Amino acid sequence: MPSSSVSLMLMFATTLLVVSSAAGNFYRDIDITWGDGRGKILNNGQLLTLSLDKASGSGFQSKNQYLFGKIDMQLKLVPGNSAGTVTAYYLSSQGPTHDEIDFEFLGNLSGNPYILHTNVFSQGKGNREQQFYLWFDPTADFHTYSILWNPQRIIFSVDGTPIRDFKNSESIGVPFPKNQPMRIYSSLWNADDWATRGGLVKTDWTHAPFTASYQNFNADDACVVWSSGASSCASSSSQSSSSNNNVWLSQELDSTNQDRMNWVQKNYMIYNYCTDTNRFPQGLPPECTTTNLS
Ligand SMILES: *[C@@H]1O[C@H](CO)[C@@H](O)[C@H](O)[C@H]1NC(C)=O
Repeated sequence: MPSSSVSLMLMFATTLLVVSSAAGNFYRDIDITWGDGRGKILNNGQLLTLSLDKASGSGFQSKNQYLFGKIDMQLKLVPGNSAGTVTAYYLSSQGPTHDEIDFEFLGNLSGNPYILHTNVFSQGKGNREQQFYLWFDPTADFHTYSILWNPQRIIFSVDGTPIRDFKNSESIGVPFPKNQPMRIYSSLWNADDWATRGGLVKTDWTHAPFTASYQNFNADDACVVWSSGASSCASSSSQSSSSNNNVWLSQELDSTNQDRMNWVQKNYMIYNYCTDTNRFPQGLPPECTTTNLS
């Protein structure tokens, strides 16, 4: 075989490898777990949709369990009148003392803003809500929602802009999620008893079915916990340079990203448990007084 065609074949093989690791495939990575056909994997595994009608919502979960990771997903939320609907996208472990890292998108009447609700549970206890408006229409296009979860912090990002940095405050007695493997979950459901303007605006079922879409799932930088209990950590950057291995496992916000997060929190944050003194008359949660004030 002429050497030129050998190198062409090699190039082709390399391209395939890169493509398959860069773009997740929902058939490979995700199980639709409920909704009786309302959740669908389409386009050869490149697109996933969940839908909600009066009879039921739908949901999926990741096949893998993770103990730390940098996990990206692109979502396009229910368009038009989405009042009363909630699209939840989160990491969670199992059991009564579970850990959980939440994004929840609370729908609204046409032209009114979604609320992006975030929360962190450790060892069964949550009550750490922060809520935001978005600086774009989350129903017009796909946007990337990311969770960086490492032993020191949980950073929530939107299109690469950090919006929340929940730091490990174990040194002052606050449990941090770091021992329980989590799966990724998502669901689209009716929550018109509380979601929109605190439950004032109900779901208008004449607009059903409501549909949210997902693409470009990426958990290349993550530690997968196998059913045997063994785990293995991978890093997409290890392909190019072994010295870059698992940078994400100790990543923190540099000053540029700290500034960007401050900008979001100043302009788009609408609720912060850490400033809600009415709710915590006995004193704010301990992590609020030190590292998680903003
Ligand atoms: C819906 O729109 C109203 C009016 O603009 C706003 O007060 C509310 O925060 C919005 N979002 C939700 C989920 O209620």
